[in-house]
Amino acid sequence: MIKKCLFPAAGYGTRFLPASKAVPKEMLPILTKPLLQYGVEEALSAGITNMAIVTGRGKRAIEDHFDNSFELESQLQGTAKEHYLYEIKDVIQKSTFTYVRQQKMLGLGHAILTGEPLIGEEPFAVLLADDLVDCKGPSVLEQMLIKYNKYKCSIIAIQEIPKESISNYGIVNGDLVDNSIDTFRIHDMVEKPIESNSNLAIIGRYILTPDIFDILKKIPPNKDGEIQITDALLIQAKMGNVIGVKFNGDRFDCGSIDGFIDATNHFAKKLEHSLIK
Ligand code: G1P
Repeated sequence: MIKKCLFPAAGYGTRFLPASKAVPKEMLPILTKPLLQYGVEEALSAGITNMAIVTGRGKRAIEDHFDNSFELESQLQGTAKEHYLYEIKDVIQKSTFTYVRQQKMLGLGHAILTGEPLIGEEPFAVLLADDLVDCKGPSVLEQMLIKYNKYKCSIIAIQEIPKESISNYGIVNGDLVDNSIDTFRIHDMVEKPIESNSNLAIIGRYILTPDIFDILKKIPPNKDGEIQITDALLIQAKMGNVIGVKFNGDRFDCGSIDGFIDATNHFAKKLEHSLIK
């Protein structure tokens, strides 16, 4: 059983300045819902109720968002506007939130290691809220959990990307397993390579076995002084313990302006269709 999902949310969101100066980038909304709430709802869809959030300075709005707001609630109670709060109240009611602050920005691996006290000795999910994925069927985490239950090792979400974008991603190489068309035993991976024979990229969803913490403590930082989760996963992959899943769903890179706009248009169209029906 995976009970906990870790959300690294300490980054500065430089690309979204000035919007991200006082508002955490994870709180920027696609339509009316903050990116992080989409992530929390995805975790809930997979039966995960314990949300472990790695925050940083200036991110207090995240804690306030996932908490009751007595003044607002009593103002809206009994009015025609009360329903606007139903969705977030439902999320709050179903989840438990724990927080830890990352003191220094030393890479995604370091952020995950910072979350260790919130996770402990159990397998857990990691969700990067920047990577927003809309699925017609089961969510990405649900798709990954099916694989975790089968293979009982670390699972990463992967997607084919245009060759010219490989330097923005962790890129993997692997072999299809069990006659599937979407599941790979990963044997190699490189963080943001300049060149690669593969265009299979890691997308911001991971299920990690807890030995990842000891690996993260031992691996050296890269040339920029950052500890990369990709380097730690490579060590598990060399032992045959990483499975990559090509998921079904529309993925938006909401860490970029273009992706953010695409996601906004996608969800706006979806809303329009649901209103017409
Ligand atoms: C991180 C990971 C990278 C992965 C990407 C997915 O990079 O380090 O391996 O492909 O997320 O969005 P970032 O985008 O944080 O630089």
